[in-house]
Amino acid sequence: MRPFLFGFVVAFLLLGLVAFGAVKTGSVMARQDVPPGKLETWLARTSLEATIDREKPMPPYPYGPPSETDFVAGANLYVQNCAVCHGTGHGTPSAIARGLEVKAPQFAKHGVDDDPEGVIYWKVEHGIRMTAMPAYDMTLDEKQIWQLTYFLKHLPDLPPQAKAIFDDPALGAPATPLPQMTIFPEPQARGTTT
Ligand code: HEC
Repeated sequence: MRPFLFGFVVAFLLLGLVAFGAVKTGSVMARQDVPPGKLETWLARTSLEATIDREKPMPPYPYGPPSETDFVAGANLYVQNCAVCHGTGHGTPSAIARGLEVKAPQFAKHGVDDDPEGVIYWKVEHGIRMTAMPAYDMTLDEKQIWQLTYFLKHLPDLPPQAKAIFDDPALGAPATPLPQMTIFPEPQARGTTT
């Protein structure tokens, strides 16, 4: 029994050492322009699915059924916050979208209308770790996240006004402005005093 236990501990330590070495020598990929490997994908996907299973809201949902106003609000929120990565009706990925490996699905082509609303809501609320998908619970309220959820769920059969904004974001609200910058006073020329 003893040699077996000893072997087990040594193997465990060796494994830890190899993992530590891989991280310290930069063998664990840190670049965005290389697709994630099989192990990373498996770890990320499996834990994402398990977390969503545990935490997703279940019907009856606290907001809905959506009205036409909700779809238009969802379309505006979408072009402001999401289109930069997920694209608009014409489906051409932006420079930001093209620079991502884990790709952001371009919803004009690969929608999420087959996912339950609760799953879409969870992803928008909490974001997806190890990808570029941000969490919006810090910046949007619950009602806005439901409006986005219903907008995505009904992307193939949107009412005309919401569809028009998805196809041509210029019709909707302007993109999210950058945060206000503190305007620093002009640096004073050297040697001048007031
Ligand atoms: C900075 C880029 C970026 C922005 C901005 C962004 N996303 Fe994402 N999103 C991603 C990426 C990358 C993924 C893919 C994650 C993955 O494969 O697990 C993703 C995945 C998703 C998914 C899951 C797609 C699927 O096929 O299951 C949904 C839903 C989603 N995003 C909705 C939104 C909404 C709504 C917004 C705006 C409120 C938004 N995203 C903003 C990058 C972004």
